[in-house]
Amino acid sequence: MSKTILITGGAGFIGSHVVRRFVNRYPEYKIVNMDVLTYAGNLENLKDIDGKPNYIFEKADITDEEAVNKLFEKYNFDGVIHLAAESHVDRSIEDPMAFIRTNVFGTVALLNAARTYWKDNMENKLFYHISTDEVYGSLGDTGLFVETTSYDPKSPYSAAKASSDHFVRAYHNTYKLPIVITNCSNNYGPNQFPEKLIPLAFNNIKNMKQIPIYGKGENIRDWLFVEDHASAIDLVYHKGKNGETYNIGGNNEWTNIDLIRELCAIMDKKMGRDAGTSASLITFVKDRAGHDMRYAIDSSKIMRELGWEPSLQFSEGLEKTVDWYMENEEWLQSVISGDYQAYYNQMYKGR
Ligand code: NAD
Ligand code: DAU
Repeated sequence: MSKTILITGGAGFIGSHVVRRFVNRYPEYKIVNMDVLTYAGNLENLKDIDGKPNYIFEKADITDEEAVNKLFEKYNFDGVIHLAAESHVDRSIEDPMAFIRTNVFGTVALLNAARTYWKDNMENKLFYHISTDEVYGSLGDTGLFVETTSYDPKSPYSAAKASSDHFVRAYHNTYKLPIVITNCSNNYGPNQFPEKLIPLAFNNIKNMKQIPIYGKGENIRDWLFVEDHASAIDLVYHKGKNGETYNIGGNNEWTNIDLIRELCAIMDKKMGRDAGTSASLITFVKDRAGHDMRYAIDSSKIMRELGWEPSLQFSEGLEKTVDWYMENEEWLQSVISGDYQAYYNQMYKGR
């Protein structure tokens, strides 16, 4: 069946993989990518699908209600897959308001448009909100986040994401808007902006610069290859039950320091360096304020009910990621020109 789907934040890291997947797999759909192109949005991420007849890019801000309404008016969307957000925890600590604006106001602007334009017929409509495991807070040594874990966000980023999740559920309850929410763990893979741990470390290792590890490097994250997140999003969009939440994770927990050592070993081989050369760049720096200790996701619901499973082992995914960054030097150079250096110097005090 033909559908017109709005994907927000499609020029970003995860969004670009989702847009590409939908455009290529569903030629009968019309995919509208709405993105304002912040520092994190880059149309280079999608140059391979540019010009495809079922793909349209609209440069617009989700906080601009008039612009959002115009797009709903113009395209008569059947569904929304909402990824646009401010996504970096460190930036949220510097400037919480930017996160409230985009993640909360922006989400509510989209919800209002969906509610208005779909009010006479909500059948076969879906507002799919992409969220994060960080809304559940921080775990101790044991346990996993399940869909019923109480919200306990601890950073301005996760507080804004939690707030947006609450609004999505409130619109489902109050206006019967058909919704689904997924909460995913840390993604890695091609096209991730080098403010996040893996691409930042890659870039520094490549250039023989110090690798900044916050605190003692003992914090734990559960890593998932980005294309596996995109496959889960595809499944949930088509098979997820109205009103439900699904957790998505890699069942793949790593302390930051072990992960970086693994990355260093791969980089030594790829760069033809003596074993241990890259690891000598590891530098422990001041911890992130309020740094969550451990995230770990129980994905059994989406696996059991929708049949999802990740396709890659971490070692394979990490090597694939390193290869992509090695082969896409131009992409990396283009995103680290401009404001990146100023950001880096402010955040890492010129290390
Ligand atoms: P990203 O920062 O790489 O991309 C965000 C995109 O949103 C960019 O293209 C940016 O231009 C766009 N955008 C930002 N503000 C906008 C606005 N006001 N209007 C329109 N577009 C705007 O983010 P990402 O890592 O790809 O994350 C995408 C979504 O997935 C976010 O909602 C994030 O919370 C969620 N998420 C991310 C991860 C992860 O590990 N990266 C894990 C779980 C959930
Ligand atoms: O869990 C899902 C979340 O994962 C997403 O919702 C966020 O959008 C995404 O940014 C990510 O958040 P994290 O804060 O976990 O990712 P980040 O890559 O910033 O950091 C990963 C870990 O590495 C974290 O414990 C902090 C640490 N770190 C990070 C950077 C950038 C360092 O030690 N040094 C660094 O320079």
